Amino acid sequence: MSAVIMDGKALGLKIRERLKEKCEQLKQKGIAPCLAVILVGEDPASLSYVTSKEKALGEAGIKSRDIRLPADTQEEGLLSIIADLNKDENTHGILVQLPLPKQINELNVICAVAPEKDVDCFHPVSMGNIIIDRPGFLPCTPRGVLTLLEEYNIPIASSHLVIVGRSNIVGKPLFNLLISKKYNATVTLCHTGTYDLAYHTKQADILIAAAGMPSLIKPNMIKENAVVIDVGISRVTDASAKKGYRLCGDVDVSVMEKASFFSPVPGGVGPMTIAMLLQNVVEAAENRIRR
Ligand code: GUN
Repeated sequence: MSAVIMDGKALGLKIRERLKEKCEQLKQKGIAPCLAVILVGEDPASLSYVTSKEKALGEAGIKSRDIRLPADTQEEGLLSIIADLNKDENTHGILVQLPLPKQINELNVICAVAPEKDVDCFHPVSMGNIIIDRPGFLPCTPRGVLTLLEEYNIPIASSHLVIVGRSNIVGKPLFNLLISKKYNATVTLCHTGTYDLAYHTKQADILIAAAGMPSLIKPNMIKENAVVIDVGISRVTDASAKKGYRLCGDVDVSVMEKASFFSPVPGGVGPMTIAMLLQNVVEAAENRIRR
């Protein structure tokens, strides 16, 4: 038996179509949703992510203010741009693409974004809101994973989920969302310090791999009929590929023979992350009306 492939690309596009309609309605009320997208430097992977985000924003009718800064930008300059954007009533969300060049302290930058414009949900207040079940933005990738699970009617409550990876962007927020009363899951969080990773992953009804380690999860590490969600995206050198590299997830695709559902890379969580970013921007614009 082969797993049902969870099509994040199709679901992401469906959500983006709905958001396009919502944007039209907001525009009729005099609100034009707008996200400021800041990229410092020329890291090719970051440039590619930012370009995809800006294209998706445009297609949904969301304005993007594209701010490109040189790699030698100093922290003070970046903080001053963010302070101006915080005050700008026509900018509903602010996204600073990470990672930042070494001379800039990432945490200072994350903390400078006003929480009501923090559509990435990276600010300590946004993260804290998740932990204490306070309303606020949900981080894009975790929200994308949850939306994908819901679309395929995968039961989350009372399931045992195992997350591999403790990043601030995926592992930690996802853990906290899943243990909330809304989702009611039992969750194990594994990381590079976990002894006998396979012991834990084999317990999972739903396995979420977000370690950033290409092909870490092999078929002998999962339970028969597990749901497997691959969140990892690594660039692996491949001379036969047009670009000289290919995208590789954390999960060896041969798990498909054993899993019941499988969210692949590419085409699974990646497109969902972008759709959720757009959703957060639209929600930020809607919140603006309420304030
Ligand atoms: N770098 C890698 N992923 C992300 C993301 O989701 N948002 C931002 N701002 N930077 C990233």
